[in-house]
Amino acid sequence: AFNLRNRNLLKLLDFTPREIQHLLDLSAELKKAKYGGYEQPRLTGKNIALIFEKSSTRTRCAFEVAAFDQGAKVTYLGPSGSQIGHKESMKDTARVLGRMYDGIEYRGFGQDTVEVLGSYAGVPVWNGLTGEFHPTQILADFLTMQEHGQGKQLHEMTLAYLGDARNNMGNSLMVGAAKMGMDIRLVAPQAYWPEAELVAQCQAIADETGANITLTDNVEEGVHGCDFLYTDVWVSMGESKQAWDERVEIMMPYQVNMEMLKMTCNPNVKFMHCLPAFHNDETTVGADIAEKYNMKGLEVTEDVFESGHSIVFDEAENRMHTIKAVMVATLGQ
Ligand code: CP
Ligand code: NVA
Repeated sequence: AFNLRNRNLLKLLDFTPREIQHLLDLSAELKKAKYGGYEQPRLTGKNIALIFEKSSTRTRCAFEVAAFDQGAKVTYLGPSGSQIGHKESMKDTARVLGRMYDGIEYRGFGQDTVEVLGSYAGVPVWNGLTGEFHPTQILADFLTMQEHGQGKQLHEMTLAYLGDARNNMGNSLMVGAAKMGMDIRLVAPQAYWPEAELVAQCQAIADETGANITLTDNVEEGVHGCDFLYTDVWVSMGESKQAWDERVEIMMPYQVNMEMLKMTCNPNVKFMHCLPAFHNDETTVGADIAEKYNMKGLEVTEDVFESGHSIVFDEAENRMHTIKAVMVATLGQ
């Protein structure tokens, strides 16, 4: 039979469309079971390490709650306080933690680091975000799109991703959409399109799955007819503060606002964001930048964020159900 036992989840490129759909189906099942009060713990007795070299709200909480719901125990290793990253190599850390834990989540900088961890731990390793990829986020996004797709299958859906398409979200959405046969438009200034090598890799996948991948800097063309508009912060964790000054002006036309929603010509268009989002002046960084450039909101405006189009908190909740599915599929009895 078909299962994912003992597999790592380092990037969606390593998974077939069928395997991705299996994880989404399992997520939906586990969500129903939790809502219905009949969830069965399948991770009893498992110990899980959660390594975060960058900060997190959703990913950490999703892993912890999912583990607890399923009967597992967790250890959180934050950006400081362990030997990781300065005193001990990832190869050694992997072999140490692999002797104690049954599964390891890792959030950090380079994808190569999580790949080393995955090669040497000897237990399933899950990527909780690197500079290049954020695979568990994509699972949550696709589950959310299925729930809001009004009966459409993923391969019948059209998604535009706006802003910094060269970051982990742009990369991972492109990979996920290629795998699932979707119509994806990466709408961004040309300097912020994903790297040519990854685009070529995704195009080859798209040729098999029937996906459509469009890279464009033309907003009107890019968003026309879309079911979903997705954006992310313009400067990611680990990037320099100066990056804001290089980006804000060039990114402005890609801000998701009401005018852009109208441009889709789809009155039911949904707005998505992995979060955290800069949509008002209630955050320190967002407020500073917005004030400096005299903007209301950055990558998205407050009215869109708070509108009925916005499904961002469904996405956030679905982080937990999908991460639970990943752990159950790779580690569960
Ligand atoms: N979307 C996401 O990964 O959020 P956190 O950084 O809060 O984990
Ligand atoms: N691109 C963002 C995603 C946060 C979930 C970052 O890496 O900071």
